[in-house]
Amino acid sequence: MSEDRVPVALGARSYEVAIGRGLLANSGRHIASLQNAPSSVAVVTDENVRAAHLDRLLSALDAVNIRCRTVAVIPPGEASKSITVYADVMEQLLGSGLERRDAVVALGGGVVGDLAGLVAATLRRGAPLIQIATSLLAQVDSSVGGKTGINSRSHGKNLIGAFHQPSLVLCDIDALETLPIRQLRAGYAEVAKYGLLGDADFFEWLDENRDRLTAKDPAALQRAVRRSVEMKAEIVGRDETEQGERALLNLGHTFGHALEAWAGYSDGLLHGEAVAIGMTLAFRLSEELDLAPPQSAARVAGHLRAMNLPTRISDIPGSARPVPEQLFELMRQDKKVVSGQMTLILARAIGEAFITRDVTPDRLQAFLRHALDS
Ligand SMILES: NC(=O)c1ccc[n+]([C@@H]2O[C@H](COP(=O)([O-])OP(=O)(O)OC[C@H]3O[C@@H](n4cnc5c(N)ncnc54)[C@H](O)[C@@H]3O)[C@@H](O)[C@H]2O)c1
Ligand SMILES: [Zn+2]
Repeated sequence: MSEDRVPVALGARSYEVAIGRGLLANSGRHIASLQNAPSSVAVVTDENVRAAHLDRLLSALDAVNIRCRTVAVIPPGEASKSITVYADVMEQLLGSGLERRDAVVALGGGVVGDLAGLVAATLRRGAPLIQIATSLLAQVDSSVGGKTGINSRSHGKNLIGAFHQPSLVLCDIDALETLPIRQLRAGYAEVAKYGLLGDADFFEWLDENRDRLTAKDPAALQRAVRRSVEMKAEIVGRDETEQGERALLNLGHTFGHALEAWAGYSDGLLHGEAVAIGMTLAFRLSEELDLAPPQSAARVAGHLRAMNLPTRISDIPGSARPVPEQLFELMRQDKKVVSGQMTLILARAIGEAFITRDVTPDRLQAFLRHALDS
């Protein structure tokens, strides 16, 4: 199967996302053929990805005479999106003699991409960034679109950040071979999200190809990644800084973020798992408000369950349960509250999400009360 290339059209900041097999081994050539190809790079990766994939990147750079000045290796996991790790990586890169025209290469999942992205955005007021996405979530979501950032120790996720578009994104389908299956499934929740928010035919296709996707069939994964990236690129191309339409990408996320915060961003509930529950809740609420036809939520839940994802709050492991008031408060604290009004993404049908500020706090609290019972 040949490689796909999806353009992200953002004027002077346009770039391409290449999706295919063996891209990591060919990454040197891709980087060398950029318009302002760097002569040196610094690589940021995490310990897991280093063990599985770093050698291939280094040989590929070597083959085209791009010098790798340094490799910053961070501990895997969300905790690395911190000011401390940001400072360490920045010092290491500056100490390696990296110059403003040299590129920062993020090799990893969303944690590496978000952190390295912020380092690139701020290194000497902005250095080129190349994303080599190795998790499914990073391939379909975090590597595309230019959001970078780290977490505040006491105030929440992604509160310290910048928009900084990459110059190139590589999504090597073969890299997913080493991705733990639970991470693959969690990333898959974001793939399903694209179908649910704007492409019912894609959702149908995903539903028909469930087994191929969980078996990591490369052709099926490539098609799923390509369509997801196309949709993200289209939305970002129309609304780069989330003034409007880009908020559709938050389908399931207001509920999901509240659940993640409640679970303490622990391994007990991965982001994609929280989003799977959140999307199901968004369709249930849409149905209850007579916006979406009956059975929509059941279809969404049926599909996600078949992919081994949780769909109910009671599916979260452990015996502790959030109380409705707690979840409501966490939803209000999510950054999508504009002048006190909560923005929700609801749906008129599968493939037809929309943004609304019309759900009253009372209605939402009533919904949360019975959502927690079932
Ligand atoms: N910038 C954005 O637009 C955006 C969008 C969505 C999510 N995010 C962020 O992305 C992060 C989550 O990303 P993630 O799910 O990729 O998490 P992650 O980067 O922590 O990766 C998940 C785990 O998989 C491992 N891993 C990654 N690729 C691997 C591979 N090929 N083989 C073996 N192991 C591999 C990692 O080491 C890690 O342990 C969150 O911090 C979230 O806020 C950002
Ligand atoms: Zn997400």
